[in-house]
Amino acid sequence: MIKDEEKQSSRLSRREFMKLGGLAATVPMVVGPTVLTVAGEDVAVYGPGVAPVSFMVNGKPVHIEVEPRVTLLDALREKLDLTGAKRVCDRGTCGSCTVLLDGKPIYACSVLAIDAQGKQITTIEGISTEQELTALQKAIVENDGQQCGFCTPGFVVSATAMLAKHKAPTDEDIRRHMSGNLCRCGTYHGLRSAFHQMAGGSNASGKGA
Ligand code: FES
Ligand code: FES
Repeated sequence: MIKDEEKQSSRLSRREFMKLGGLAATVPMVVGPTVLTVAGEDVAVYGPGVAPVSFMVNGKPVHIEVEPRVTLLDALREKLDLTGAKRVCDRGTCGSCTVLLDGKPIYACSVLAIDAQGKQITTIEGISTEQELTALQKAIVENDGQQCGFCTPGFVVSATAMLAKHKAPTDEDIRRHMSGNLCRCGTYHGLRSAFHQMAGGSNASGKGA
């Protein structure tokens, strides 16, 4: 049985407890992984504290500390101030948060930052510069492919990946590749014309992409 003095010395006063709580809230500790053995294999488990994450963003190495629950979108916007990828649905539906992960378009709202460890990420900021629009962006402007423009960064990122794969995409290619990007303003016709223009083709047809 624990003696009264021992109980007393192990007990924190409410004031001491509050001080420690405040410290934990303002200075999150970087916690390394706990290693669990599952089915004979060692598995690294991170959290609940912040964990170190390193990846390449727009060609530059980046090292951040985030809780394992933080999405890649939140890490880009809130830790790295890259706000081109937009948070709209935040549930993998609209495509406004699209970035390239190792060259493939993904929804940054649906990938954890820690799962992008060691990968190459390209955001809209890495595709164009503040000084000059890319040829694709110019084609989108020329073809009235945007209205409010909120979805446009996601469309540009997805279309950049599509055009890298299909130099002259057919309407079917466009429909398939761009099906993960939604535009509430309904600029699909102008966007598709822009994609055809990039391929040197005519500004065809009236159906939505
Ligand atoms: S915000 Fe990511 S898919 Fe809509
Ligand atoms: S231009 Fe407004 S949502 Fe696409």
